[in-house]
Amino acid sequence: MTKKIGVVTGGGDCPGLNAVIRAVAKAARGHGWESVGILGGFEGLLTPRNTIPLDYRALDGLLTRGGTILGTANRGRFSAKVGHGDSRALPTELMEEVKQGMNALGLHALISIGGDGSLSIAQQMFEHGIPVVGVPKTIDNDLQGTLMTFGFDSAVACATDALDRLHSTAESHNRVMVLEVMGRYAGWIALFAGVAGGADVILIPEIPFTYESICAKIQEREKQGKRFTLVIVAEGAKPKDGAMVARREQQKDREARLGGIGDVVTAELEQRTGKECRNCVLGHLQRGGIPTAFDRALCSIFGAEAVELVARGEFGKMVAYQGSHIASIDIKEAVGSLKTVNPKGSLATTARALGICMGD
Ligand code: F6P
Repeated sequence: MTKKIGVVTGGGDCPGLNAVIRAVAKAARGHGWESVGILGGFEGLLTPRNTIPLDYRALDGLLTRGGTILGTANRGRFSAKVGHGDSRALPTELMEEVKQGMNALGLHALISIGGDGSLSIAQQMFEHGIPVVGVPKTIDNDLQGTLMTFGFDSAVACATDALDRLHSTAESHNRVMVLEVMGRYAGWIALFAGVAGGADVILIPEIPFTYESICAKIQEREKQGKRFTLVIVAEGAKPKDGAMVARREQQKDREARLGGIGDVVTAELEQRTGKECRNCVLGHLQRGGIPTAFDRALCSIFGAEAVELVARGEFGKMVAYQGSHIASIDIKEAVGSLKTVNPKGSLATTARALGICMGD
């Protein structure tokens, strides 16, 4: 009987998911295996099972297509992260249902494409004896063990483009323009895009900020005849004596929804400096659209390598980009704690060397 592998996408979408699905299906074909897409996240494995065959025609155009043709979910019975990233153990009965689903579908392995939440689910599945392999996805780039997750480069490109556009309007109106970007508890998107897009101030969760420091930077620029300032703020950034801003009341069995710090910073800077300030929230634009060339290549490598892990029977592992090579690490190493920005690391140090205010 032909071997069959399942592919599932979980958590928030991001550019490159379809490129991984394509790479998995093509590489699996090279082994003579069939592949099946699980629809709607892990729920698709449960009765009344929802899947599509990933045959040759199903892969048309997937390399560049945004989102995920399989659909995804970051809520419901499979949410393994709640509140501010707290882990939740999934019921044993649910794991048994997953096993039954895999048997019923004739799957000999599952490839789970996801971030911290979905890979925490994959880890729990592995501990329950389910043959699963992980592929690291998230625009936040906050998974341990991999220098980069796919989707991050595309999100940085989007945020950098936004900064480029804000630059000219800020300059024309002599304004302070604030750009709020995603990233949850990590400042990777803000830091990379801030440096790439020439921001004057970069605020990230790892470096609590003071308004005095930001205002001093704005005043310094005014003295130099630069009557506008570009500020990029990560959604998880917070003042030294304050807390993170969440969008709304915490919902049961869901992760906290961050966002709103851009508005807070903008209002405070306007009041303190007397300058016109405007806020722009980039939001889900960072997650949509076509993946960058780097992400397409990374997704292709990740997908093909994940299939090789299945072929070698290395379950409970995740493919990881380590600069010079693609490695495999235990999924549990990737999800134990978040990979956040080192405030003394090379990019933060470079930002300071270029005169960028890091808010402290
Ligand atoms: O984890 C990816 C991410 O886009 C975060 O940067 C952001 O905080 C969150 O997901 C938004 O989630 P949702 O799409 O559920 O609003």
